[in-house]
Formats: sequence, structure tokens, C-alpha cells
Amino acid sequence: MNIQRISVIGAGTMGNGIAHVFAQNGFSVSLVDVTESALQKGIETIRQNLSRQVKKAVLSEADATATLGRITPTTGFVSGVEHADLVVEAVAENNDIKSQVYHSLAEATKPSAILASNTSSISITWLGAQSKRAGNVIGMHFFNPVPVMKLVEIVRGYETSDTTYQAVFALAEKIGKSPVTVQDYPGFVSNRILMPMINEAIYCVMEGVATPQDIDMVMRLGMAHPMGPLALADFIGLDVCLSIMDVLHRGIGDDKYRPCPLLRNMVTAGLLGKKSGKGFYSY
Ligand code: 3HC
Repeated sequence: MNIQRISVIGAGTMGNGIAHVFAQNGFSVSLVDVTESALQKGIETIRQNLSRQVKKAVLSEADATATLGRITPTTGFVSGVEHADLVVEAVAENNDIKSQVYHSLAEATKPSAILASNTSSISITWLGAQSKRAGNVIGMHFFNPVPVMKLVEIVRGYETSDTTYQAVFALAEKIGKSPVTVQDYPGFVSNRILMPMINEAIYCVMEGVATPQDIDMVMRLGMAHPMGPLALADFIGLDVCLSIMDVLHRGIGDDKYRPCPLLRNMVTAGLLGKKSGKGFYSY
């Protein structure tokens, strides 16, 4: 299958990073969001990240300009997706919103279009059922910051076809990423391993084992992690971490995945990490 035209739905942190990487690798991308302001913010982030790459001599000025030129921002859902060979969905991690998007995509896209979700924890099999085109639905789970992180988890839903899988795997390689194939179980591989570690670090804070700074220092200096688990939780968003722990707990049914009460309290209090200005650290 020849994938040429790509639509990315959602211009937030992940969506703009995904659009950036596809455009940098020569693809025309339409970037779809519901408001002009969300699109402007997304495009501005791409512009800043491109100029960071130019400064580091990863990219020439001309390539950065061409990359930006290949991205068409639009608030028109139908016009943004109707010609796409591949739609990458990166909307909020909310079942109702996702369900609505997949119903609309089934109406608005070509029957052959592949629908890939960047979801970090919602079942690909369930998204396939919403679209009524389950063979064409797959997970393409990118990592933040998308232009930097090499991994893409390719998540096969229960009914994802071999054609869809092979096309998306090859495409991930074409854009310079290292795809890894995983089956559709809660948290896939990445978040099933990462989130319990973050959750355990939060238990260490709650029980007063050490300060957040010291817990992070243990993992940075002792295990060579680029960021400590609490700084990483702030970077990802504490609400996202909580929702993934809830999915693991509910989906696997083992109490070893119970979210730490301190995590729940912080989210309830509005401490969401970097995006809210306060989490385990202040920003
Ligand atoms: N766009 C483009 N380039 C970027 C960038 C961006 N948004 N952010 C950072 N960079 C580049 C920098 O220019 C720099 O390039 P260089 O190596 O050529 O000099 C390089 O990345 C490192 O950046 P910095 O020097 O600014 O800062 P650090 O060395 O502290 O690295 C980091 C920042 C890359 C974020 C690093 O701390 C890191 O790898 N942290 C862990 C990130 C991580 O675990 N991400 C996964 C989160 S989980 C997830 O996304 C899944 C979800 O389901 C929860």
C-alpha cells in the first residue's frame, strides 16, 4: 500500500510532533484541530522545534522551511481527512471523544484509509469497533518529544489486518523511527512497564522514603535514566499517568497496578505537572 497523504488529528504536544516528523520526511500533512488557536499553538511549537534542529545543525534552514510548507493546518474535519491514505489520531485520551472521532472518520475517509491511533492506553480493538473498519485500525504510539524519541509502538488490535500492519510498520521505518510490534493489551508494553515505576516513585514520596529530588537523583545517577520518574511524570502530565494506571488496574485486574492515592489527590487538586505549572516540581 502506497501511503502519500497523511492527516493528523489533534495539534497538541503529540499531534504537532507527529505532523513535524512526517513533514520532515517529505510527506504532505494536513493538521486538523477544532479551533484556530489550537492550530496556531501547534504550528508555533513545530516552528520552535524546527529552529532548535537548525541551531543544532540537524536540519538546514531550507529543509526547515520546506517541512513547515508541507503542513496544512485546518479546522475543517472532512476536508482535512477526505483524501488521506493514513489518518493519525492524537486527540484527548477520552473514550467519548475518541468514539465520536472514529465514527466521523468512518464517514469522512476513503474506505482504504488506515486509521492509526497514538493512544497511550485505550484499546485499539475497541477503537476498531467504533470505526466499523477494524481491519484498517492500528496503534501508532509515539513518544514525547516525538522528533527526538526513536520508538514507535505498533499496536495490533484483535482485527487489524496484515496489510494495515505491514504498511504502518514500513512507514514508521521510512520516517526514521524504530518500530516495535506489540499486541493490544492494557498499557501495551511501554506504559505497562513505565507507569508502575512512576507510580512506585509516587508511593515513595507518599511514605516519606525520600524527597522527589532525591528519588529522581537515584534513578538518574544510579540507573542512567535521562529524567527521574517524578520529573518524567510532570513532563507526561499527572492526569495522563493516573488515567493509564486506572486502565492497567481495570484492564488487568491485579491490585499491583492500583494508582497511588497521592497521585489521585494531586490530580484532584489540579496539580498536573508541567502543563499546570505545578506537580512534583514548580515550573
Ligand atoms: N523537538 C526537537 N528536538 C528536541 C525537542 C523537541 N521537542 N526536545 C529536545 N530536543 C533535542 C534537543 O535539541 C537536543 O538535541 P541534541 O542532542 O542534538 O543536542 C536533545 O533533544 C536533548 O535535549 P536537551 O539538550 O534540551 O535536553 P536533555 O538532554 O535534557 O533531553 C529529553 C531532553 C530528550 C526530553 C530527555 O530528557 C529525555 O529523553 N527524557 C525522557 C523522555 C521520555 O521518557 N519520553 C517518553 C515519555 S512517555 C510517552 O511519551 C508515552 C506516553 O504514552 C505517556
